[in-house]
Amino acid sequence: MRLHDIAVVGASGLVGRKILEVIQQRNFQVGKVTAIASDASTGKELNILGKSFKLHKLEPHIFKNIEFVFFSAGSPVSREWAPKAAADGAIVIDNSSAFRMNDDVPLVVPEVNRQEMFKNKGIISNPNCSTIQLVTVLKPLDNEFKIKRIIVSTYQSVSGAGYKGIEALESELRNEGHAPNSPFAHRIAFNAIPHIDVFFDDNYTREELKMINETRKIMGKKDLAITATCVRIPAMYGHGESVNIEFDKKVTPEDVREVLSKAKGVKIADDPLNNLYPMPITCAGKDDIFAGRIRKDNSVKNGINLWIAADNVRKGAATNAVQIAEEYIKGK
Ligand SMILES: NC(=O)c1ccc[n+]([C@@H]2O[C@H](COP(=O)([O-])OP(=O)(O)OC[C@H]3O[C@@H](n4cnc5c(N)ncnc54)[C@H](OP(=O)(O)O)[C@@H]3O)[C@@H](O)[C@H]2O)c1
Repeated sequence: MRLHDIAVVGASGLVGRKILEVIQQRNFQVGKVTAIASDASTGKELNILGKSFKLHKLEPHIFKNIEFVFFSAGSPVSREWAPKAAADGAIVIDNSSAFRMNDDVPLVVPEVNRQEMFKNKGIISNPNCSTIQLVTVLKPLDNEFKIKRIIVSTYQSVSGAGYKGIEALESELRNEGHAPNSPFAHRIAFNAIPHIDVFFDDNYTREELKMINETRKIMGKKDLAITATCVRIPAMYGHGESVNIEFDKKVTPEDVREVLSKAKGVKIADDPLNNLYPMPITCAGKDDIFAGRIRKDNSVKNGINLWIAADNVRKGAATNAVQIAEEYIKGK
C-alpha cells in the first residue's frame, strides 16, 4: 500500500490539529508528516492522539516531494505560499477563503461535487464551514425536487473564529465584560451577535456573501436564489442553521426525510416529541451533518423548514479536507 507524504500549514491551530487527528482516525495511509506553524512556534512539539509532531517554519521548497499540503493558517499565508507548494508539485487543499471563488480553483465537498477536484491546477479549496453543511443537505434535495429559493440563518459557534474565539468565550464565562483580544465585536458570553467577518456597503457581512457565492459555485447554479444571515452564538463547537427552502413543486416533509435519509454524509435526527433534534453540542466530534425539525412552511406554496447542525472544525474544515485527499487518491 502506498503511503502519502503530507504537510499541514497552521498545524498548531484549531483546524490544523484536527487535520492531524482526523488523518489518524480515518486511517489515511500517511507517510512523512511535515507540521508547520508561525515562526514563533518553530521547534515546539505537538502531541496529537499520542503522536508527536515537531513544528517547522515556512521556507522555500519545504514542500518538495510532498504529495498533499493542507493549508489552515489564514488567507494571507495561503495567498503567499499555496502557489509555491503547487509549483513544487504538491496538491494543495486550502481551508482559507483565498482562492475559493477563483474560476480555476475547484471548491469541493466530496459528497456533492467530487468530480470537480480533478480539474485542479494544483490548488483545491475547502469551502467555508457553514457552506459545507448547507450544500450537503441542499444538493440531494435539489437533484430530486429542484429548489427555487433558500433562506438560511446560521447560529455559529465561537470555535469558528479559531482558538481566539474559544479563549474569548472561556474568559467571559469567568469574568464580566468583553474579553481582551476577543475576535468578536461584543461580549459573546450570554449573547448572540449578528456579525461574522466584515460588513460590506450593502450591509451584508463577508461570511454571508461567502455562503451565498460558495453555495452557487458548488451547486453549479450561478443564479440560485439564496439569502443568508450569519450569527455568532456562545456554543463552543458546532454550527446550527435554520434553512427555509421553496421548491418548484410540491414536496412533503416525508419526501425530504426520505431523500436526506439516503444522502451521503447526512443523518436524520428528527423526533421532536422525544426532544430529538440536531444541536451543536450533540454534533460536536462527529463527521456527519444532522438534519431535523423537518416541517412544512405554510407561508408559501411549496415550502419546507428544517434545521441542520454539524461540527465546524471536523466536517466544516478538517474532515472535508482529508476526504478531498482520500477521494483524490481514489481517482476519477
Ligand atoms: N475554525 C473553523 O471552524 C474553521 C473552519 C473552516 C475554515 N477555517 C479556516 O482555517 C484557517 C485556520 O483557522 P483556525 O480556526 O485553525 O485558526 P487558529 O486556531 O487561529 O490557527 C491558526 C494557525 O495558523 C498558524 N499561523 C499563523 N500565522 C502564520 C504564519 N505567518 N505562518 C505559518 N503559520 C501561521 C498558527 O501558528 P501559531 O500557533 O504558531 O500562531 C496556527 O497554527 C483559517 O483560514 C480559517 O478561516 C476555520
